[in-house]
Amino acid sequence: MNRAVEEVGRIFGDVGLGQFQLNLARPVERGDYLAVEDEAHGRVLCQLDDLKRKSDFDLERAGATGGAAETPIHENLLGIARIIGYRDGQGLVKLPTIPFRPGAHVFRAEEPLIAEVLGLKHHANSGAYVGLLRNHALRVELDINQLVQRHVSVLAKTGGGKSYLLGVLIEELLRHRVTCVIIDPHGEYGSLRFAAEKNGVHARFGVESQGFGRQVQEYSPDATLNPSAKPLTFSLRHIDPRDLLVFMGLTNVKTFLAPLKQLIERVATSNADYSVHDLVRAAEAGEGIVAETLHERLEYVEQTKLLGPVGTSLNDLVKRGEATLINLRGVAPDVQELVVARIALTLFENRKKDKIPPLFLVIEEAHNFAPQQGTATCSRVLKNIASEGRKFGLGLCVVTQRAARIDKSVLSQCNTQLILQVTNPLDLKAIAQSIEGLTAGMTEMIQSLPVGVALITGGGYHTPLFCEVRPRATRHGGESVQIVAA
Ligand SMILES: Nc1ncnc2c1ncn2[C@@H]1O[C@H](COP(=O)(O)OP(=O)(O)OP(=O)(O)O)[C@@H](O)[C@H]1O
Ligand SMILES: [Mg+2]
Repeated sequence: MNRAVEEVGRIFGDVGLGQFQLNLARPVERGDYLAVEDEAHGRVLCQLDDLKRKSDFDLERAGATGGAAETPIHENLLGIARIIGYRDGQGLVKLPTIPFRPGAHVFRAEEPLIAEVLGLKHHANSGAYVGLLRNHALRVELDINQLVQRHVSVLAKTGGGKSYLLGVLIEELLRHRVTCVIIDPHGEYGSLRFAAEKNGVHARFGVESQGFGRQVQEYSPDATLNPSAKPLTFSLRHIDPRDLLVFMGLTNVKTFLAPLKQLIERVATSNADYSVHDLVRAAEAGEGIVAETLHERLEYVEQTKLLGPVGTSLNDLVKRGEATLINLRGVAPDVQELVVARIALTLFENRKKDKIPPLFLVIEEAHNFAPQQGTATCSRVLKNIASEGRKFGLGLCVVTQRAARIDKSVLSQCNTQLILQVTNPLDLKAIAQSIEGLTAGMTEMIQSLPVGVALITGGGYHTPLFCEVRPRATRHGGESVQIVAA
């Protein structure tokens, strides 16, 4: 046994198989790792889930003021610890089958035990280095294959550090040459091209600043407003009438599909290279409510400038080992939905046919694109990707500040959750419902996480862990705007 280990207390009272109580002779923080020596299996890793100070200073004594000198207050710090387990001969994490003995000594866990039981690996081939285990110098690396195959959610209140953490994740994916497509509603991720200014924190985390200019390309439906982006358009000829209805915002297929098909056929016979404008002109002549609606909605599609004679080619849009940003800054919300619907559908269909490399599709502000209530044009395809994408090597990452407002079926398909501070009770409830293995203590801790600390579940780990997010190698693009100069 290592003599240097620090004893923090002893087990008392009734002892369960999943948790126990201990008196704390030394201060230990909630979430800290502990170890108990088990007779049969050696050191077992545990984690402090809750703390309480007990005393004999009760209501009666508190109410008795003045008079005789105060009798001393007896107090004890007690903790509730959760048993994480030990690694057996085959490397599997097991829980002891017999409870620890009352009176057993509890130690602060040493890093080799923590690393072994949690399964922390250093510089694994498929590891995305996202930060250090909180209060330790142990690297937290997420298994990239798990991320891409089993979907990810990034959840936090606004300003909680979601985009920063996602930036860290994308840097790692680019280092490993994983193809990414990022739906970027605020145009924040262009800064991935530029190296961050180095500071002392970089050295502590062992991070070099580095830009990814060669691996980042940007498209936008509004390239005038976003000059760093190439224009994104879709080819009208490759849009079948059913999909065109989606662009037109018409959901009543029964009513509108046949008249739209007729209209297209009529225009196409006289001009094979027809444009949306040609369709608008042809629709003008129609009479009746259906024809008028078609005309009005086609005019709307023309205004969006999304459909041209030649669309952005798929080979340009998706490049192996690179990140494509779809910058939607300044684009109207309904047009954003159309773009996301079209891109998500194109990626999904072409992944199924193996025409593009396996990839990671990131949806920022995902509550707008796959809302729990109401519908967004792109909801259905995102739900399909969430439930079936993994079979085809299409990983989904949803980022949202409102866990309660994103479609539950999408959220529950995400097997890796990166959670930063969340305070809204409805969002906390949605998170607790969608994640297995979250203790009441952890849910409470989520409410007070400092900026830069994430609770990670999944990602190759069998137990949730707290991670201090590493600094960005690239510049962060989502800095808050200063309204009043400091
Ligand atoms: N790990 C971190 N280390 C240092 N600073 C951080 C970290 N995470 C976030 N920040 C800082 O906190 C601020 C908010 O972070 P970020 O833009 O990622 O929040 P967000 O959750 O994406 O917010 P929103 O919901 O408004 O998009 C930024 O100014 C960023 O610099
Ligand atoms: Mg953000």
